[in-house]
Amino acid sequence: MEDVEGSVPVPAVAARVFGDGLPGAERFAALLERFGVERGLIGPREVERLWDRHLLNSAVIGERIPAGATVVDIGSGAGFPGIPLALARPDLTLTLVEPMARRVDWLGEVIEDLGLAIKVLRGRAEERAVRAELEPADVVTSRAVAPLGRLAGWSLPLLREGGMMLALKGASAQEEIARDEAAVARAGGGTPKVSECGVGVLETPTTVVIVERIRARKSAQEKRRRNAAAVRPKRAE
Ligand SMILES: C[S@@+](CC[C@H](N)C(=O)[O-])C[C@H]1O[C@@H](n2cnc3c(N)ncnc32)[C@H](O)[C@@H]1O
Repeated sequence: MEDVEGSVPVPAVAARVFGDGLPGAERFAALLERFGVERGLIGPREVERLWDRHLLNSAVIGERIPAGATVVDIGSGAGFPGIPLALARPDLTLTLVEPMARRVDWLGEVIEDLGLAIKVLRGRAEERAVRAELEPADVVTSRAVAPLGRLAGWSLPLLREGGMMLALKGASAQEEIARDEAAVARAGGGTPKVSECGVGVLETPTTVVIVERIRARKSAQEKRRRNAAAVRPKRAE
């Protein structure tokens, strides 16, 4: 992409959060400032708060991600939280899953421009073809994609057993947990926990709902096999 100059001031804390990835984060912010609104990726009011509400807020969730983890970010949109996470944590192996062609194009352009080794998959997280493309991940991230229960049904099947879903949720976190805990359990998740990331670093830390995948979801075929075995009469000895 062309040369762009960002006008939004870079907060001092960005150097601490992004480390060596800061130049990439500045470039990403400048690209979003230049093209984000015109390409329908962010609202005009988001430009002023690109750093606080978007880049920093996304990158700090790296605190909850183990070194060298494989991460699938679902519903990345303009690139959140996946792109800032990749810039702050080059040790991670990231895949972005996004169904909208326009956004997939943007993500591809940005990844190339920033020289990041990130894969982008076009599709919905719950689609069989998308699931088939992905190895079971250590972590699945998302922000502003769906209510917690539905999100668990999309995210948990992409995880290995013991893997973690990290959903950036904000003020609705506890309410969503109270409402959707049973749906999370049905999808194979453990008890959801709320965690704050970026405490002592950001003015407003990022609220994340963390759910561990504790058991594999049974496929329809497996369920039919189990049901058939349960009703089949035992042969006499
Ligand atoms: C409100 S946007 C949020 C984008 C980005 N995560 C952010 O926080 O700026 C929701 C995004 O989720 C995507 N999406 C919706 N349903 C999805 C699904 N089932 N699987 C993957 N992505 C989905 C949409 O195309 C859209 O880009």
